[in-house]
Amino acid sequence: MRKIVFFAVLSLLSLMLCGCRTTHEDPNVTESVISDGEMYTIFENGELKITDGETLYIEGKMLCHKGGRITVEQGGSLMINGELELAGELFLDGFLGISENASVYGEGSASINSFNDIYCEGSFTAEIIPPKPVITDGVTSVGGVVIVNKKIPISKEYGRGLDWDVISALNKMRKESGYEMKLISGFRSYGTQVDVYKNWCERDGVEAAETYSSRPGHSEHQTGLTVDITNTEEEYAYTDEGRWVAENCYKYGFVIRYPKGKESVTGYTYEPWHLRYLGKSTAKLVFDSGLTLEEFLGVEGGGYYQSSADFMMGLY
Ligand code: DAL
Ligand code: ZN
Repeated sequence: MRKIVFFAVLSLLSLMLCGCRTTHEDPNVTESVISDGEMYTIFENGELKITDGETLYIEGKMLCHKGGRITVEQGGSLMINGELELAGELFLDGFLGISENASVYGEGSASINSFNDIYCEGSFTAEIIPPKPVITDGVTSVGGVVIVNKKIPISKEYGRGLDWDVISALNKMRKESGYEMKLISGFRSYGTQVDVYKNWCERDGVEAAETYSSRPGHSEHQTGLTVDITNTEEEYAYTDEGRWVAENCYKYGFVIRYPKGKESVTGYTYEPWHLRYLGKSTAKLVFDSGLTLEEFLGVEGGGYYQSSADFMMGLY
C-alpha cells in the first residue's frame, strides 16, 4: 500500500516542490525533489544521507561517482522516477522505489537488508548485495526470500499448502495470457515428496532421478511458493505457452527456477514448467539480473553434501 501511495503522489509532489526542500506540518517529515532535467552529483568521498522521515524523489538524474555513497537510513525513502547512475555504493536501511520508466544502473552496488525494502517496477541493473542467510523455524531466507536447494534443506514439518498470492498470481497470468496453464503440481509436503522421490528412484535409479527430483526435505514445492504447469517435459519450452511464460512470467512475480545451462548452479536439469513465486518486484530484479536464484541471493548451489547411499539408508 505504502508503495502505491508513494508512486501516486510522486508527480503531484514534483509539481509542488520543484527542486526545493519543504518541511510540512510534521517537522519530522521532509520531502525533496531533484526535478526533471536537473542533475545531482555525489563525488568521490561524498555522501548523501536520507534520514528517518525524509523522502528524496529523483525525477531527473542522480550520479553517484565511484567512492561516493548514498545511505538511506531506516524510515527514509529514495523514490526514483528518473535515473540513478550508481558507480559508488548505496546502503539501504530504508525504502527504495523505482517506478516503471525509471532506472538504476552502473558499476556500483546496493547493499540491502530486505527485498521488502525495494519496490521495483523499472529497471535495476547495478549489483545487489543481499544480507547473509537466516534460518527461522527450519526455513532459510535471504533478505526475506525463502531459498531451498540441494545444499539448503527445509524442515520436515514446514508447509501448509500453496500460498494464496501464488494462486492469485497464476490465475491473473492465465487470464491475461489466454493460456490454460494447468496446475500439475503445487504444494508438496515432506511426506508426499518421499513418495515422489522414491517412485522416480525406482523407475530411473537414484543417480538419474536426483537430476530432476529433489530428496524430501529439499524440494522447493514444500515452500508453497512453487508451481509446475501444463507439461513437465522440456518440449514445453518450445510451445507457444512455454515461450510466453519464459518471456512474461516475471511480470506476475514468477521466475523459471531451473534454467537451461545453469544445471551446475541449481543442481537440476532444465525445468521450463517449474515456476517459483517471488513477488513482482523481486522477480523483476532476478529477471533483469539474468542470474539464478542461488547467484542472485549469493548462496551455495550445486549438489548435496550427503551421498545418495547415506541418504537412502536414512530414508528406508
Ligand atoms: N523437480 C523439482 C526439482 C523437485 O522435485 O522439487
Ligand atoms: Zn516443480
